Amino acid sequence: MLHLGAELPVLLHELLRKYGDFMRWRGFRDVYLVNHPDFIRPVMTRDYRYFSKRILDYRVLARIMGNGLVTNDGPHWMQQRHLIQPMFANRRVNEFDGTINALTSSLMDQWETRTGGERVRIDREMSRLTFRIVGATLFGSDLDPHGDEIAEIIEVANLQPLEIRALMTLCSWVPTPHNLKWRRAVRRLDQIVYGLIQARRHRGVGDDDILDRLIHALDEGAGEGLDEKQMRDEVVTLMLAGHETSANALAWTVYLLSTHPDVEARLAESLDATLNGAPATAADLPRVPYLKQVVQESMRLYPPVWSYARRAERQEEFNGWVLPAGAYVAVVPYSLHRHPEFWPDPNRFDPDRFDPNAGEARHPFSYLPFAAGPRTCIGAGMAMLETQLVLAQILQRFKIRVVPDHPIETTGKVTLKPRHGIVATLSRRVPIRLRKPSAPA
Ligand code: HEM
Repeated sequence: MLHLGAELPVLLHELLRKYGDFMRWRGFRDVYLVNHPDFIRPVMTRDYRYFSKRILDYRVLARIMGNGLVTNDGPHWMQQRHLIQPMFANRRVNEFDGTINALTSSLMDQWETRTGGERVRIDREMSRLTFRIVGATLFGSDLDPHGDEIAEIIEVANLQPLEIRALMTLCSWVPTPHNLKWRRAVRRLDQIVYGLIQARRHRGVGDDDILDRLIHALDEGAGEGLDEKQMRDEVVTLMLAGHETSANALAWTVYLLSTHPDVEARLAESLDATLNGAPATAADLPRVPYLKQVVQESMRLYPPVWSYARRAERQEEFNGWVLPAGAYVAVVPYSLHRHPEFWPDPNRFDPDRFDPNAGEARHPFSYLPFAAGPRTCIGAGMAMLETQLVLAQILQRFKIRVVPDHPIETTGKVTLKPRHGIVATLSRRVPIRLRKPSAPA
């Protein structure tokens, strides 16, 4: 039975369970939902060129992101992707572990003063933290004086693409109250970002943040087409794409750990034993495999990008199902990740599903939190590093308990958010010292 008042991710999941893995949803435009890994594979990989981003969602996102990696398409996208990809190679991303740890430590120090039963909005705290992290990895400390202002601008300008206020920005000359506010916000954002780019050019590179790497690429001549406007678009895109996604992954993981004390205890023990109270570095992570499993399982149940869409540029056929040219096609990881054929007991939070030694091969397209193929998330390595480092510190220092009377529901904006937030109390955690004291010499 469908819950008609249910939020979109839950509603789509229920429809897909009821009507099957290939479903046409009639509405003001028809939506073709593909929910079988075998159908999704060619969309994301072999035939990705025939599934473009020429749809309304991306036109609306482009109003703020411009022509950055998320909204760009075709040969120009590929050229930009080749240019930027090396900046996100694991080796380079891992160099940000110190920055991530420092920003996290500073938040943890603030939390120390909030352990007296105060209610804390975990989702907002994670959002502030990930914004600082992405800001610092892009701009170093240059962003500090503008951080709060940009966070406010993003609140105004970054809307769910298909909500009326967002659609109206396509006609931003129409002076609706929101359009006026939106225009001011984007103008100010541009002023700040162009200012930061110019100041850095003036000062010269050397900080080795992403902005430095972009300017360097341009100076090397590798960045044909990477003019100031394109640089602005790439930077704003990375700021938006890399902020709320990671914040949601963290907030939902904290929620799941709080409601699964057995998993929480096992993870805390493993962190204590490996790190002994210190923040994890990138190099430490392989020694705490359960941490990664917890993040993976959390993103299975609550994929931060809960759906992504494409336009079929030509007619396609899957197993007798016809997808007409021009169709709006959506992949819904929220539902795919709960598909009972690929995930036994799908609603159970069980990080052991991701145990690399469990031996059971999973269909590679049954788990797609970062999408797949050529348009896979460029920041996946960064996101995995960031979520694990932040959680390692949280878990070692605090016990978080969501308050029992607070409703937890999802809401499908661009990212999968907790509709009423995640409200919790914090207490200091006493580390379990598993290490035996060393014997006297
Ligand atoms: C847990 C965190 C994250 C998740 C779940 C996530 C998920 C995704 C997904 C599903 C896509 C594909 C969207 C589509 O095809 O429509 C994507 C694309 C992208 N993501 Fe992420 N992302 C995360 C973090 C990040 C971070 C930290 C950055 C950068 C700092 C980033 C930058 C991007 C960019 C630039 C693209 C577009 C890539 C392209 O098409 O070439 N993401 N992400």
